[in-house]
Amino acid sequence: MTANRDVVVRPTVDALMRTAADEIVTAAANAIRATGRFAIALSGGSTPRRLYEVLAREPYATAIAWQHSDVFFGDERCVPPDDPKSNYRLAHETLLARVPVAPERVHRMRGEDPPDAAAAAYERELRTAFATSAGPPRSTPGACFDVVLLGMGDNGHTLSLFPGSPALAERERWVVAVRVDADPPERITLTAPVANAARLALFLVAGAEKAPMLARVLEGPHDPTDLPAQLVAPHDGRVRWLLDAAAAASLRGVTT
Ligand code: 6PG
Repeated sequence: MTANRDVVVRPTVDALMRTAADEIVTAAANAIRATGRFAIALSGGSTPRRLYEVLAREPYATAIAWQHSDVFFGDERCVPPDDPKSNYRLAHETLLARVPVAPERVHRMRGEDPPDAAAAAYERELRTAFATSAGPPRSTPGACFDVVLLGMGDNGHTLSLFPGSPALAERERWVVAVRVDADPPERITLTAPVANAARLALFLVAGAEKAPMLARVLEGPHDPTDLPAQLVAPHDGRVRWLLDAAAAASLRGVTT
C-alpha cells in the first residue's frame, strides 16, 4: 500500500455513492476555504451516473458552494455534446442542469471538434484556469484540480488512458487526443501528470466485474503500461479508492 493511497469499501452501491458525495463536499469546502475556488474534473462512463444523481439531490445539492466551483472533465468521447455517449451529456443531465453552477464555470471538452484541436484548446483552458502558462501542472493548492474523479475500466484503463497507449508516457502536455479500443474510439483525455498534480484523485469503482482487475491494479505487480490506473499516484495529494463490496471481493488486504 503506497504511503498516499487508501482504500475504502462500502457494503452497497448506495452507501458507496453517499461516501463519494461526502468526500466531494468535504474537498469542496476545504478548497474554497483555502483558495476561494473548488476545481473538480468529472469522470464518464456509467458508474458516476449514480453519484451525480446523489449530488443533485439534498442534502448534497446545496452542500457544495457551486458559485465558487469550476467543473471540468477528465476525458470525453469525440462526439457532440448531445450524443448519448457524451460524458458531458451524462453530467449535464444528471447533475449540472440541476445545481446552480454558472454555465461559464462548466468547462466542456469539445468532443464535436477535430480531436487534436479540441485537446489543445482544452489545455489552453486549463492553463488559464490554473494560471500556469508553461510546463507541467503544479500541485500547489489552487494550481490544479482539487478533485479528479476517476473510474476504472475492466481492462485497467482510467480517464481515456488505455493499456499500451503512447499517451501513458506523456509528461508535458496536459490534454491529448487518443484512439482507443472502445466505442467510440476517438477520445480526448487528461494525461497522468494532471491527475498526479491533484489534491485528491478519487477512484469510484463498483460491481463484481471489476473485482479481478482491481486486485491486479491494487495488489499486483506495478505495470502501468498494462494497468494505466496504476499511473495515478499524486505527488503531494492523495489517491483514494472508493469501492463497493462486490468490486473489492478479490482484494486480499482489505476487509469487506
Ligand atoms: C469514460 C470514462 C472511463 C470510465 C471507465 C469506467 O469516458 O468511459 O472516463 O475512464 O471511467 O471506462 O467506466 P464505468 O464506470 O462505466 O465502468
